[in-house]
Amino acid sequence: MGVIELCNSSSLCIGRAKPSCLIEKSRTRRIACMASSVPVREESQQKQCVTGDAFIRPHLRKLSPYQPILPFEVLSTRLGRKPEDIVKLDANENPYGPPPEVFDALGTMKFPYIYPDPESRTLRATLAEDSGLESEHILAGCGADELIDLIMRCVLDPGDKIVDCPPTFTMYEFDAAVNGAHVIKVPRNPDFSLDVERIAEVVEHEKPKCIFLTSPNNPDGSIIDDDTLLKILHLPILVILDEAYVEFSGMESKMKWVKKHENLIVLRTFSKRAGLAGLRVGYGAFPKSIIEFLWRAKQPYNVSVAAEAAACAALKNPAYLENVKVALVQERDRLFNLLKEVPFLDPYPSYSNFILCKVTSGMDAKKLKEDLATMGVMIRHYNNKELKGYVRVSVGKPEHTEALMKCLKHFY
Ligand SMILES: Cc1ncc(COP(=O)(O)O)c(C=O)c1O
Repeated sequence: MGVIELCNSSSLCIGRAKPSCLIEKSRTRRIACMASSVPVREESQQKQCVTGDAFIRPHLRKLSPYQPILPFEVLSTRLGRKPEDIVKLDANENPYGPPPEVFDALGTMKFPYIYPDPESRTLRATLAEDSGLESEHILAGCGADELIDLIMRCVLDPGDKIVDCPPTFTMYEFDAAVNGAHVIKVPRNPDFSLDVERIAEVVEHEKPKCIFLTSPNNPDGSIIDDDTLLKILHLPILVILDEAYVEFSGMESKMKWVKKHENLIVLRTFSKRAGLAGLRVGYGAFPKSIIEFLWRAKQPYNVSVAAEAAACAALKNPAYLENVKVALVQERDRLFNLLKEVPFLDPYPSYSNFILCKVTSGMDAKKLKEDLATMGVMIRHYNNKELKGYVRVSVGKPEHTEALMKCLKHFY
């Protein structure tokens, strides 16, 4: 092997060739060069061309990037509208935001220059009171998203299998790919209920390590009843129950179940219930036999001082959280009835803060989303295998519903 010489910011030259000869223009050619390890030029047999991506783990080179929604400011520039003039119903955010205590707590933070508590003790104690589950079972994270990834990092070896039940939250599939796991898909039934028989077959034959269940499910808003959950919990598989939207469902959280089911993890978040999506705070309930390994593997300072202060302050005002939840649930039911009147939409009943609609009558779902965006109303559209021609509308304030309905009227 020759010396490694830095050619430019993105490519490395190994050998004694002139750096300029190794800067490849075409990505296809770069990859071919890496894969075969054959020198690029005949006259420099001992030279090797390597670009930075050669250092990336092979399974990640094939990874498609996660497609997040556009940041508010970028969206505002693209649409030529002020952020406050955009009706944002595309990401299931809570338009009421957090209670006033949160702004006070953020404005009076005393030690933002000191690293946060790696164990988020104050937050976990507050969550223990809120949930009725001892803090030894609770771990907080930078959003439920971080915990999904952390669980996978602790549970999965590359090549292990997980069960995913689409249509559902796409982060499970994405994180599985990042962690080098195989995803076995057990699609939901046409009414979006789980295909429990098929799940049991897959568990028996494929021996997957874990299954991700979402209740209420994103994007359709259906819930998993206790019988179904128990059936799956009796299978030899780790069940991760994602309750990001449980507050809107009228169902009690299953957090306390982790004390009697060694194979259950329950995830929750402040993003929806407390309007703190931007501050990134999620939490999970774990059996003690599992949580100790997550403590070992997590980043020490994963919940920032600001995030912990905000989450604790939000829980200080349960009346506010309850009122916001009631307002959103009432608005969901009103929105559902209004969407039913739209001739090209077929809405599904939802237990969450969003409503999935099938776009019918020859109307194109993507075009509908794009046209609404030009009018300043953002909704989410789907075009994947399980949900071709569907849109999802988050529940907003009454004025957001009015704006949406006014825009939809342009189409009929
Ligand atoms: C089902 C589900 N789980 C988890 C999350 C992510 O939650 P967080 O904002 O706490 O990362 C979302 C976000 O939309 C979600 O829909």
